[in-house]
Amino acid sequence: MGNYQDQHQRSLAEPSAYWLERAQDVHWFKTPTKGVDTSKSPFNQWFADGEINACYNAIDVHVANGRGEQTAVIHDSPITDSHTSYTYAELLDQISHFAGALKSEGITAGDRVMIYMPMIPEALVAVLACARIGAVHTVVFGGFAAKELAVRINDCNPKVIVTASCGIEPGRIISYQPLVEEAMSIAAPSVNACIVYQRPQATWALEQGRDKDWQETIVAATPTDCVSLKSTDPLYILYTSGTTGAPKGVVKDIGGSVVSLKWTMSSIYNVQPGDVYWAASDIGWVVGHSYIIYGPLFQGCTTVMYEGKPVGTPDAGAFWRVIEQNKVNVLFTAPTAFRAIKRVDPTGALVKDYDLSQFRTLYLAGERCDPDTLHWSQKTLQVPVIDHWWQTETGYSICANCQGIEPMPVVSGSPSVAVPGYDLKVLDNEGQVVPTGEIGSIVVKLPLPPGTFTTLWQAEDRYISSYFERFPGFYETGDAGYIDENGYVFVMARTDDVINVAGHRLSTGAMEEVLANHPDVAECAVMGVNDELKGQLPVGLVILNSGETGSHEQIRNELIKKVRDDIGPVAAFKSVAIVDKLPKTRSGKILRGTMRSIADSKQWNMPATIEDPAVLEDITKSLQELGFAKEQS
Ligand code: COA
Ligand code: AMP
Repeated sequence: MGNYQDQHQRSLAEPSAYWLERAQDVHWFKTPTKGVDTSKSPFNQWFADGEINACYNAIDVHVANGRGEQTAVIHDSPITDSHTSYTYAELLDQISHFAGALKSEGITAGDRVMIYMPMIPEALVAVLACARIGAVHTVVFGGFAAKELAVRINDCNPKVIVTASCGIEPGRIISYQPLVEEAMSIAAPSVNACIVYQRPQATWALEQGRDKDWQETIVAATPTDCVSLKSTDPLYILYTSGTTGAPKGVVKDIGGSVVSLKWTMSSIYNVQPGDVYWAASDIGWVVGHSYIIYGPLFQGCTTVMYEGKPVGTPDAGAFWRVIEQNKVNVLFTAPTAFRAIKRVDPTGALVKDYDLSQFRTLYLAGERCDPDTLHWSQKTLQVPVIDHWWQTETGYSICANCQGIEPMPVVSGSPSVAVPGYDLKVLDNEGQVVPTGEIGSIVVKLPLPPGTFTTLWQAEDRYISSYFERFPGFYETGDAGYIDENGYVFVMARTDDVINVAGHRLSTGAMEEVLANHPDVAECAVMGVNDELKGQLPVGLVILNSGETGSHEQIRNELIKKVRDDIGPVAAFKSVAIVDKLPKTRSGKILRGTMRSIADSKQWNMPATIEDPAVLEDITKSLQELGFAKEQS
């Protein structure tokens, strides 16, 4: 393997040859001869003449190669006080049976299956069973409410929902039945069956004809083999937040995902078959797809599914306990998790209670890694701490310090350099490359490498308009930042209305839609304000209809509840102020940027285009009442 520069340059100069070589590391039913087909760019196709199966590469191949008795997945669940594990052979048995169960529900290749499950191994079984028969899985995060589920049902029309009787959060059990049933009642009918994993903490009252019990279904099912699928067939749809309320259905293909994710395991994470890899995230996010399920299993690792929190389950030593008990070699999580630990155990004293001798590297992503968190993690764990930058759309890092290719110096505030396959540029508003060190829009020159999204589900126009129209020939990441003279990239902020709350990507536009639907609200704005723990928090400002005399406190509570009910608790929407006016330009645009600076107590200049400067005084007072805008500059 050449060093980083060689690999990166070759991946850009000869993408097809470079990735066809990487493709030799995975199992194909029909080996591809073609790398990338750019004839319909940006709808590029990777390995178009290849045939493959993602489940075969995750499970069967290891059993065939003698790894059947190795532990494939550990379910570490402090929230239910349980610890279980499955070998590759045991998983194969479960998955092939569950694939048979899906088949007997009439599911065939190309059909969509929705998975709405907590962090239990059955969720991983369901995902891989879909992949086994070519069904397209769409996993929805458990923290989303019924309406969000309904929007996704309407968009991809699943025939089957695989779910569980409940999710468990500290101090509360979330029954899924009312959520799923409400979602199905709102959405257009497409779901014929719900397969329900009953957990002892809550029971789902099965509706005859529609609902099936997971255990009974799996016992009755005939095991099914992997089917050979086109490399370019869809593997999954994962919805993510965009500028508007309608989430984007990011589509990943099979061949590109298998090749790229397997390659990242050795080249970025430097893990080998048999290593224990823990991504402390959730299967409902892209990190969960790529690094709880697919990547570690493609590489023959042991993956850890953790059903707990960094703090409170039971204490701030939870992560260290999981690392010791499961002999974790590599941990991947979001900086917010470490900020939560640091807040409770600032000196990292709890680490000393655990033997972390086999722990090698910490990877952080999902949000900007603040230097404090980086330094605290380095000092506390005494291992390399690697920030890497990526997105649902890409499926793996755009920038990283590739530990398996050539470890580089860690530079605080930067996720390091472009990963092989990514040709990064920073452009100004006119599409010109900015000088080194200057901020602009970060873009990737086409073609994108394999494993990145191939389209948006049933929204080809939106795929183009959201990502490829503003800068022709490039993929627009939606992030702004700069590249320094050593090629280190600094990702500073989003260029759209997406905010990042505790590593979760959320749309302020979606929250504004919910607020605007309240009968008393005339106008509103939601913005992301800096928060020490969660990175950002949403803050709403609303103007009431004229003549509205209801209790402000009651309306505020209703608005908070509405966002929780419609989007979900994960939105963490708890701050809203009622104001008389919103600051606007003379042409009517709300000055969100200025309000954000005020809320964050940053230096700000009076915008030349503001219609009524006095409005900002009232806004500042309202933000101060909410606990923001601490020192006015
Ligand atoms: N099902 C139902 N509700 C959920 C949920 C789920 N799967 N996940 C979160 N929620 C709820 C929480 O209970 C909380 O509800 P509350 O308002 O009643 O307290 C709300 O959604 C907000 O959750 P979260 O933002 O996760 O805050 P938290 O206070 O529970 O935990 C952290 C904060 C930092 C500990 C937590 O976000 C974390 O561990 N993050 C790790 C990083 C991560 O998973 N990133 C994903 C991408 S890498
Ligand atoms: P998601 O699609 O949910 O993974 O969110 C992707 C977004 O999270 C990116 O576009 C960035 O805005 C942000 N992000 C992810 N990783 C990083 C990182 N390492 N540094 C800065 N921002 C990040």
